[in-house]
Amino acid sequence: MQEKIIILDFGSQTTQLIGRRVRELNMYCEIVPYNKFPYDDPSVIGVILSGSPFSVYDEKAFKTDLNRLRGHYPMLGICYGAQLLAQTYGGTVEPADSREYGRALLTQVDSSNPLLKDIVPGSQVWMSHGDTITSLPDGFRIIASTAQVPVAAYQIEGEKSWGVQFHPEVFHSTDGTQLLRNFVVDICGGKQDWSAASFIETTVAQLKEQLGDDKVVLGLSGGVDSSVAAVLLNKAIGKNLTCIFVDHGMLRKNEFTDVLRDYEVLGLNVIGVDASQKFFSELAGVTDPEKKRKIIGKGFIDVFDQEAHKLSDVKWLGQGTIYPDCIESLSITGTTIKSHHNVGGLPEKMNLKLCEPLRLLFKDEVRAVGRELGMPEHLITRHPFPGPGLAVRILGDITPDKVRILQEADHIFIQGLRDWGLYDKVWQAGVILLPVQSVGVMGDERTYERAVALRAVTSTDAMTADWAHLPYDFMAEVSNKIINTVRGVNRVTYDISSKPPATIEWE
Ligand code: XMP
Repeated sequence: MQEKIIILDFGSQTTQLIGRRVRELNMYCEIVPYNKFPYDDPSVIGVILSGSPFSVYDEKAFKTDLNRLRGHYPMLGICYGAQLLAQTYGGTVEPADSREYGRALLTQVDSSNPLLKDIVPGSQVWMSHGDTITSLPDGFRIIASTAQVPVAAYQIEGEKSWGVQFHPEVFHSTDGTQLLRNFVVDICGGKQDWSAASFIETTVAQLKEQLGDDKVVLGLSGGVDSSVAAVLLNKAIGKNLTCIFVDHGMLRKNEFTDVLRDYEVLGLNVIGVDASQKFFSELAGVTDPEKKRKIIGKGFIDVFDQEAHKLSDVKWLGQGTIYPDCIESLSITGTTIKSHHNVGGLPEKMNLKLCEPLRLLFKDEVRAVGRELGMPEHLITRHPFPGPGLAVRILGDITPDKVRILQEADHIFIQGLRDWGLYDKVWQAGVILLPVQSVGVMGDERTYERAVALRAVTSTDAMTADWAHLPYDFMAEVSNKIINTVRGVNRVTYDISSKPPATIEWE
């Protein structure tokens, strides 16, 4: 049985980060809404209570019956979690006189406490709260303080229950990983047996059992998730897996042939379908971004469905859904919203059962599994690329000629990032073809041609992003190369907008 830590989610933005940190300790964990603790699951060895956007005394604050957890499992409350634990048993939580946000230093630390083993005064922690615990219930003992916050950490005496006011999961808490290790390994007794190799071994065995001799069809996009899902399924069921890779004509330069070759080298049973003419004709004259997306989404399903029907006896649809797509997100009202959407309604249309072998993995774990499976690095470290591809990077209507111009410019930019060792430093990058012509001069000729915008961003999850501060020399080289070699472009600009308020894509 795979032992696990449960992270009860009270709605904090850092809940997923707690999950990732625990997994980085090779300890399996699951994030569940605050009111959905799996009391019947015998594999749970400890519980972490997350932070929350609420104050514990808000009318709408998320609450759960802590009596059913306290004393039954080792427990660690973080920020709101710590306040909730203290308040429930008679402590006082009040708005802080001076709100403490950002870095703080622990001034007093009881390093003999098992939670704080190897953590000493001076350790930097990250605070982010408007409330503070002003008095603790009887039997709760302070084990760390900062200059502003006397109750930075506490333990309930004689019990395996702790609370910390700061956020050990964020990078700026320098001993945060140590604290989580102390909890997960020393206190909960976690065996740290969660690794890419163990995941592959168990998942392949489970897939063999679940699928037997059934046939599975899977849509490949060239992206990391669907590629890793395919290789994993291939390891489990071999030729009973058929992959379909559709070229809608809006892929990057040479991407269809390059990626198809990669898949073949990996031993996948893959059908490449060049449907670009269909998409070009359906998209002709369409300028509205959402209409473009709808046409491509529907066209993709039609082509996929048509190809899949040529196969006989398919029972399952394989998908590269990953954990962040499945975690039930909490709305501010406390209702849970299932954020997991199947791609464009394919399983319903085709009457297939869903098989999602990566649904428990975070993105960095998907990459680790891909590496362990021997996949090439360039497939694993690939930037995200939107499903509708270059269609949402050509502002206005789409023609094959515009796609060609954009593919050439994009290729120069992306290859340049690779050559300069910058590719892995940015989250994603691409070129946008603007619906603008401007005057230029080439030799003795006046030109009146297109302008493009380069876009490169840094990010950790695409929810927020900053424009990448790329070196001027690099930009100069890329700009010259694009203007000198891509016919139809005479001006290159760089997009310096962050998200929010801008988005990563322009459409
Ligand atoms: P935005 O532009 O909203 O993009 O900041 C966030 C991330 O999502 C990608 N993106 C898409 N992916 N279909 C997709 O599969 C889409 O229609 C789509 N639109 C944006 C975008 O590239 C970025 O990684």
